[in-house]
Amino acid sequence: MKRFIEKEEEVKSLLSPLKSDIGEIYYFENISSTMDMASSFEKAEVKNHTLVISDVQTHGRGRFGRPWISDSGDLQFSLLLTAYNFQIPYSMLAAYAVFLSLKKYTERVRMKWINDVLWESNRKIAGVLTEESDDKTVIGIGVNLNSREKPEEIRDIATSFYMETGRKIGKEQFLYDILSELFPVLSRVHNGEIEEVLCAWEKASDICGRYVKVENESGNHRGIVEGIDRITGALLLRIGNRRVEIYDGSVDYLD
Ligand code: BTN
Repeated sequence: MKRFIEKEEEVKSLLSPLKSDIGEIYYFENISSTMDMASSFEKAEVKNHTLVISDVQTHGRGRFGRPWISDSGDLQFSLLLTAYNFQIPYSMLAAYAVFLSLKKYTERVRMKWINDVLWESNRKIAGVLTEESDDKTVIGIGVNLNSREKPEEIRDIATSFYMETGRKIGKEQFLYDILSELFPVLSRVHNGEIEEVLCAWEKASDICGRYVKVENESGNHRGIVEGIDRITGALLLRIGNRRVEIYDGSVDYLD
């Protein structure tokens, strides 16, 4: 579990122009998962907005217990919040921040409810996982930036910015890009502006009016998307003459 002290210093100075306070910065060469490390800190001993970054994760994880497979060319980090509100859909906000950051480099990305950022081919370029415990919330973000290839088993569903464009983006620079989008969004929602932010999310995702299938633990739901609930982020689905609110699941576009 080697720590890159020099990189931590570099990241610290790179992030210093951000208006929000950053906590500690931990930059590892190789750990099981930045989620494990960030959750292991005691709240009393850790600052809000502490960052855990790792070049490699041996057991990176995604939603629904799926593995998250990425390599040292990619960006993987967790942001720890000690000041948070359980009702806020942090994953959606983080996906929005990643989406806006990627849009500075390309038009060829889109956002899919609830927390995916996809390349135009529908392959996944970034994912977000939020884990909440009694006293903290950890937002984990993985962005497939510079990996040269994806392993066979995920080649059909995942891609990287480099694989699509032949261009590289510095990982630390992109971390800065994400946080410079995410921190203002977090302060807005913590100051009661969740409705405005989710309205912008809905517009950016272009999901309204789409015919979709949502798969979650209660089954498969097919319907037309009427929007995103402006407080909870739930997907509002028209199924026949009913309007159903869906809080989690994987979306497939059917139109
Ligand atoms: C998903 O799309 O299912 C969510 C993927 C989240 C991956 C990131 S990478 C950094 C952090 N550490 C993990 O083990 N997972 C998240």
